[in-house]
Amino acid sequence: MKIITEEVLTELIKIYGFENYLKDLMKKLREDFSRWEEFNKIPRPSMQVPGGVLELMPICDKKYYTFKYVNCHPKNPETKLMTVVATGQLSRIDTGYPLLVSEMTLHTALRTAATTALATDFLARKNSKIHAIIGTGAQSEFLIKALSMVRDIKEVRYFDIDSLAMDKFEKNLKGSAFKMTRCKNAEEAVKGADIITTCTACKAHVDVLKNDWIKSGVHINGIGGDTVGKTELEFLILSRSKIVVEYFDQAIAEGEIQRFDRKEAKKKVYAELYEIFTGKKSGRANEKEITLYDSVGIALEDYSALTLTYELAQKHNLGEEINLTPVLSNPKDLISVLN
Ligand SMILES: NC(=O)c1ccc[n+]([C@@H]2O[C@H](COP(=O)([O-])OP(=O)(O)OC[C@H]3O[C@@H](n4cnc5c(N)ncnc54)[C@H](O)[C@@H]3O)[C@@H](O)[C@H]2O)c1
Repeated sequence: MKIITEEVLTELIKIYGFENYLKDLMKKLREDFSRWEEFNKIPRPSMQVPGGVLELMPICDKKYYTFKYVNCHPKNPETKLMTVVATGQLSRIDTGYPLLVSEMTLHTALRTAATTALATDFLARKNSKIHAIIGTGAQSEFLIKALSMVRDIKEVRYFDIDSLAMDKFEKNLKGSAFKMTRCKNAEEAVKGADIITTCTACKAHVDVLKNDWIKSGVHINGIGGDTVGKTELEFLILSRSKIVVEYFDQAIAEGEIQRFDRKEAKKKVYAELYEIFTGKKSGRANEKEITLYDSVGIALEDYSALTLTYELAQKHNLGEEINLTPVLSNPKDLISVLN
């Protein structure tokens, strides 16, 4: 079995190229979402714990089973810990044997950015030039870079309640092709923006975006509202928006749409992502509508990332081979390993 540590993934991405990895991941995500019906999937089981949430995200098709363990503890940075960390595994389904154990913190940021970029490509106006982001934490630069691969972004406007998070964001994106505009508040950041991405962490219903600020034609990526009792948009925005979710059964519990009852939400949600990616439903219909990608993150995105990394790690001979399962000449003789 292969082990992909953070160092191994970093090396792989260095060899392969950050943009190449994101490009391949977007392609893979599109292919995997297009096989939606082939996957055995469930809304993720989550456990609300003091200060955060712990989630397990399993999925399988006819070849592989993957799962991710992930948390979200918004107050962790106060003690120099990350808000979101994750680990995961890829197994073959014919034998159940694990093939890969992996870090999933970087993978999560990569797959969230890649899926959001794909959604944006289908939902944002083609001539979108200004991208506003609220929340410049761990996920933010990945989102900025991936979205810039699908639209010709000329300006990034940003705001975070933590000025040090904005300093870090500026440092990491220094030298980018777009203009960087630091804003005093979220309203200033979103004014005149074509695309708005919210990626804040707070375990509450917070109006990070106010309805009054949202003008027609805008596309919103709501990334940070992703568990029970944790949303980022003023409710009125939802009724004005064409809403796309990843997976309705999970989004109804965890997304912005948790604020509707199930029946209302069924009427209100326009599509699941796979319907857009396969052309079953069209993306943006005109220049005026407000579109909302209400993301919570689903197991299929991790499946795509893990299987891509597995393929690349095999090809480039990266990742240490370890035994986490016994290697026996007689498979019934488990006790022999102790002799
Ligand atoms: N949808 C998905 O697939 C997905 C994937 C990964 C993370 N997330 C979510 O995205 C969010 C951000 O994750 P992260 O790893 O970047 O966390 P992070 O803690 O590193 O960054 C979050 C940032 O939001 C800022 N913030 C909090 N409230 C704010 C507000 N009202 N206005 C402006 N800024 C505010 C914080 O100061 C912080 O810098 C989390 O809520 C996480 O659960 C979603």
